[in-house]
Amino acid sequence: MNHEKIEKNVGLLGVLTAIVISVGGLVEIVPLYFTGQVGEAAPGIKPYTALQLEGRDIYLREGCYNCHSQMIRPLRAETERYGHYSLAGESVYDHPFQFGSKRTGPDLARVGGRYSEEWHRAHLNNPRDVVPESNMPGFPWLATTVVNAEGTAAKMKALRTVGVPYSDEEIAGAHDAVAGHTEQDALIDYLQSLGIASKTWGK
Ligand code: HEC
Repeated sequence: MNHEKIEKNVGLLGVLTAIVISVGGLVEIVPLYFTGQVGEAAPGIKPYTALQLEGRDIYLREGCYNCHSQMIRPLRAETERYGHYSLAGESVYDHPFQFGSKRTGPDLARVGGRYSEEWHRAHLNNPRDVVPESNMPGFPWLATTVVNAEGTAAKMKALRTVGVPYSDEEIAGAHDAVAGHTEQDALIDYLQSLGIASKTWGK
């Protein structure tokens, strides 16, 4: 039987397995090259402001992504809980994107506007002050550390080279937009921006 021949010949089995897997891969990947949609910003998506960008870097530095994804799957249980499922066009200005899949805590892709600024301050200082059963660690030092504004303009310039449309004025104003703010201010500004645009997309 042909099937027996394949199973007893490791080389042939390997080649045929590779062909089957690449068909599956190509069917998913090739169309992405021919639709502009995945590379275009979704409606309402703008580059991060200087302060939000610094907040995002603090999010990365503190490893928030180890416990939080930013990727709503197109499943009813997810959209009922969080809101509109994530679109590729939401992440065009994210380098690197923060999809993730580890959810020790809730997904944060739609957390913007969900809580007040005061709530976030209390939560970041000591999560158990607002969510008694929380096992999220506190990040109290963010409230007393001032953002280093020296590098912000350079970061924006670097992002411009990979396609984030920052204007010269935005880059020139970056230092002043960030200077004097605490790391907690920046992080909350970033969190409050997440998913705001999706609220205008309907269901
Ligand atoms: C060890 C895992 C862990 C880490 C690291 C972590 N979190 Fe959390 N986070 C949680 C858990 C668990 C919850 C749910 C309980 C709560 O609200 O505190 C949560 C909740 C949240 C919420 C509320 C979400 C909602 O929809 O109610 C926000 C906002 C948040 N985290 C932000 C952050 C930020 C910002 C960082 C990094 C500075 C961070 N988290 C780091 C585990 C974590």
